[in-house]
Formats: sequence, structure tokens, C-alpha cells
Amino acid sequence: MSRILIAGCGFVGAALARRLASENHEVWGLRRSPEGLPPGVHPLAADLCQPESLRNLPPDIDFVFYTASADSSAAEAYSAAYVTGLENLLNALGEQGQSPRRVFFTSSTSVYGQSAGEWVDENAPTEPEHHTGRIMLEAEGVLLSSTFPAIAVRLGGVYGPGRRRLIERVRRGEAGVAEGPPRYVNRTHRDDCAGALAHLMSLDAPEQIYLAVDNEPAEQNEIIRWLADRLGAPPPRTAPEAEAPSRRSGSNKRCKNARLKASGYQLIYPSFREGYGEMIK
Ligand SMILES: NC(=O)c1ccc[n+]([C@@H]2O[C@H](COP(=O)([O-])OP(=O)(O)OC[C@H]3O[C@@H](n4cnc5c(N)ncnc54)[C@H](OP(=O)(O)O)[C@@H]3O)[C@@H](O)[C@H]2O)c1
Repeated sequence: MSRILIAGCGFVGAALARRLASENHEVWGLRRSPEGLPPGVHPLAADLCQPESLRNLPPDIDFVFYTASADSSAAEAYSAAYVTGLENLLNALGEQGQSPRRVFFTSSTSVYGQSAGEWVDENAPTEPEHHTGRIMLEAEGVLLSSTFPAIAVRLGGVYGPGRRRLIERVRRGEAGVAEGPPRYVNRTHRDDCAGALAHLMSLDAPEQIYLAVDNEPAEQNEIIRWLADRLGAPPPRTAPEAEAPSRRSGSNKRCKNARLKASGYQLIYPSFREGYGEMIK
């Protein structure tokens, strides 16, 4: 049984908390409004951006998961949630004399700047153009240069129960497919985020960085057409390239999950078909 702190216990964090609590670990879920955490998870009200609210962390924590997310995509909000909040928590752990066996940070595939459909793995260059990726990378640096053993886990776009925006847009016939060359998106089902994090916690000699995405980088157009077909929705209209959501970011890369799989993790949802398929059943 381990003592586990999940800081920023939201969509991913709460799924992880539920899973770990059900495995009889003692789990604390920290967030500003900690009502409604899964049964068996100790709520901890604190603001990661207010160091004084982190003065009384539970003692003797074995594992820390930093799964907070920014309130908006503005640079200030990103820096606060991913860099300042993480620094504050690491400082608080140090000041309290804690020595967690590992600190995990849920990073993002946005750290890659590749935009021509390249395959990327954990060793690929990380030269993001957008501030969101640059700030994530800065946070990874804070984590990996800390005195604690640490792992950055780069998640793809997280989807799962309750996150139905794309499904509902397709159902209403509002999601257009983009013209132009293929553009790939990378996804991670919420339960694979939680599953991969729990799995990595159990490894004796993990690497410092893992890409946790499903097996199949997919074209957004393909996902939209597949959903429309399954939902019996109107065929998606063809949208000018600039209007399609996946085209606006400029991001276009295919992330490999070979390192995660070689470490022994078996995906629950190997592609968007299994994940969305279950959500629209
Ligand atoms: N969602 C995605 O598509 C995606 C993709 C790649 C990577 N990720 C990464 O995965 C992680 C989890 O994402 P998610 O979708 O689970 O996010 P989420 O549902 O928004 O949950 C984030 C949690 O952080 C808490 N939080 C935010 N600011 C805080 C603060 N200052 N102090 C304490 N708690 C704070 C929020 O609760 P309160 O508001 O109550 O404080 C919320 O419960 C994030 O690190 C995110 O960057 C997500």
C-alpha cells in the first residue's frame, strides 16, 4: 500500500485516484474545489499557485502525480498552472522533508513542433512554436531537474466519458472535414491516462519520459467520418482548411507509444474506434 498525492485531481486525476484507491492505496486528491472526488479518496483543498496553502501536505507521500491543468490557454494561465504550481509543490515537498519515490507530471504532445505528419518518439526534437508547448517543456524541465526521481508523461488529446464535444458536433452535422493534405491527431482515452500512470508507478527502473498515446495517430477527418457513420448523422460537410479545428493549431505529427508498450503497458482503448465506440454505444 502506497501513500499517493494527486495534485490537480480533475478528469484524469480523479480516474487515477479511483483506480489507485480501489487497489487499496491511500490517496489524496488535491484541487481548489475538492468536492465530489471518488469514494475512498481524501479531499485536500489547496491552490497550487498559493504556496501557503501547501504547508500541510499529508506526510510520508510515496508517489506524487501532478495532473493540474490551466484555466485557459493564455500564456499567464499556462505558466501559473504548469510551471509555478509545479515549482510550488516541489518546494513544499522539499521543505516538509518529504522524499517521494517518484513525481509524475502529465505533459502533452504539444511539446513537439513537428507539422508535416512526422513520426515522433521520446527522442525526437522538441521545438514547439506555440507558447502552450513551450511552457509544457519548461515545466518538464522544472520537474526533471528537481531533486526527486521524476517522470514526464506526454499525453495526447484526452477524451472519454463526459467529454462528448466532438461527438455532439458530429451528431448535429456541425463538424466539417478539412480540405487539404492529411493532418494527424494523437489521442489518449482517460482510462489509458490513468492506466498508464498507474502502470509506470509500478516499474522499478522507468525512463524519465514516456509518450502515452494510443496505437493509431488518426486523421481528424477520418474520426469525424467514422463518428458520423456510427451515429447515423448527416455526412460531414467539407470545410475550408482554415475553419477545421485540427487545422488551426498547425500541429501535425504522429506520436509513437513503443516505449510505453515495451514497458509492459497494454492499452485499454487501442484506437479512437474502441474509445468513441464505447462512448456512443
Ligand atoms: N485534456 C487534454 O486533452 C490533455 C492533453 C494533453 C495533456 N493533458 C494534461 O493532462 C492533465 C490533466 O488534464 P485533465 O483533462 O484531467 O484536466 P482537468 O479535468 O481540467 O483537471 C485539472 C484539475 O486541476 C485542478 N487545478 C487547476 N488549477 C489548480 C490550482 N491552481 N490548484 C489546485 N488545483 C488546480 C482543477 O480543479 P480546481 O479547479 O477545483 O482547482 C482540476 O480538477 C493536465 O496536466 C493536462 O495538461 C491534457
